[in-house]
Amino acid sequence: MDVVFLSPAYPPEMAAFTRGLAEVGARVFGVGDSAPDSLPQALRGHLTDYVHVPRIMDDADVIARVGRWLGGRRPDRIETNWEPLTVLAARMRAALGVPGLSEDVVLGFRDKPLMRERVAQAGLRVPRSARVRTRGEAWEAAAAIGFPLIVKPVAGAGSADTFRVDSESALDGVLDQVRHVPEISVEEFIEGEEYTYETLCVDGAPVYESVCQYFPNALVARQNEWISPIIQSVRHLDDPRVRDGVTLGRSVLSALRMGTGFTHMEWFRTPSGEAIFGEVACRAPGANMVDLMNYTSDVDLFREWARVVCHGVCAAPRERPWSAAIVFKRAEGHGRITHVEGVDAFRRRHGSAIVREELLPIGAPRRDWKQTFLSDGNVVVRHRDGAEALRIAMDAASSIRLYAR
Ligand SMILES: Nc1ncnc2c1ncn2[C@@H]1O[C@H](COP(=O)(O)OP(=O)(O)OP(=O)(O)O)[C@@H](O)[C@H]1O
Ligand SMILES: [Mg+2]
Repeated sequence: MDVVFLSPAYPPEMAAFTRGLAEVGARVFGVGDSAPDSLPQALRGHLTDYVHVPRIMDDADVIARVGRWLGGRRPDRIETNWEPLTVLAARMRAALGVPGLSEDVVLGFRDKPLMRERVAQAGLRVPRSARVRTRGEAWEAAAAIGFPLIVKPVAGAGSADTFRVDSESALDGVLDQVRHVPEISVEEFIEGEEYTYETLCVDGAPVYESVCQYFPNALVARQNEWISPIIQSVRHLDDPRVRDGVTLGRSVLSALRMGTGFTHMEWFRTPSGEAIFGEVACRAPGANMVDLMNYTSDVDLFREWARVVCHGVCAAPRERPWSAAIVFKRAEGHGRITHVEGVDAFRRRHGSAIVREELLPIGAPRRDWKQTFLSDGNVVVRHRDGAEALRIAMDAASSIRLYAR
């Protein structure tokens, strides 16, 4: 089994998927824009070969180089788990005659308006929205949809340039702030809790499923530096809180004609209990959520993803013995980490529930919290009881503090 894997070194989690591929017996042919001598030693051990491309986002150039590099050999799979490369992977499959998600299917996961259209056409509940290019169109859309609203880029990522707008008087200011965005989406603001739904699919059928919840909702976490965001896995997928979200998620995957691989969806649960679609991607989730699922199910989903794409089977158990929660910490102040408070006391209180501590060491430069959800470190805890896991995570959020200067 020969697998071309796009971008094995970036983002860093891709190295773990590369390992997974090697562990299920694949020969892994990496393609990336990282210099070959910058690849970590462990990653090299899992690669059969690597081709360095100058511009990984230049689809035509990458496809031509990979074609020459393979010299007429046809790989069995072409895969990626990094969102910006999902369309490139589909185009390369078409060019080289390799099975897997087609470009049309990938676009349903990549182009937000098209995604919403296909999901809505299947009769599923999506936020009412309009795609607008001018101020006039934005005002028209606001009048039709009503406040509160969300204003966000059509081609957005990481909640950049995304705003909640509560009134007509606030809309003017927000439109000034998004003036540089060529096309925006004006949407009905969905009140409620925000959840995810992840799967590993084989030919569109979920063979592993997971649900997590964001505390607070992702937009609030991304806009307030003082918050220590938490993502928690929900243990029981038949819990009435999330059951409708799981059903929605399965319907979304069939509406978008998912094939084989990872998916990551975001959805809302309104106060009345309705599940409303947010967005979905045909790749693994970021923000260390694969690790979080691994702690939830005592499994290695980096390897199970590889088994799914290479062999069409999944050896992960369906059981979820734990609810796991990851707490992202942001230091107070700028510059380098000078000290960390509260960790020893937190360990004394919850020792056996703590499964990972990855706080930046003293002296390390702060990460840019706007750019990376990983911020200045994280703590992962788990418990059989979800409410208890959340309580411990909240304790880490409030009692562990990092300072920088
Ligand atoms: N219609 C909506 N109603 C309420 N909240 C919304 C809505 N659309 C977006 N949000 C909030 O804004 C966040 C970012 O929006 P969205 O996920 O669509 O964009 P994104 O930039 O792709 O985000 P990311 O890359 O962070 O997942 C959501 O996670 C959610 O918290
Ligand atoms: Mg999102």
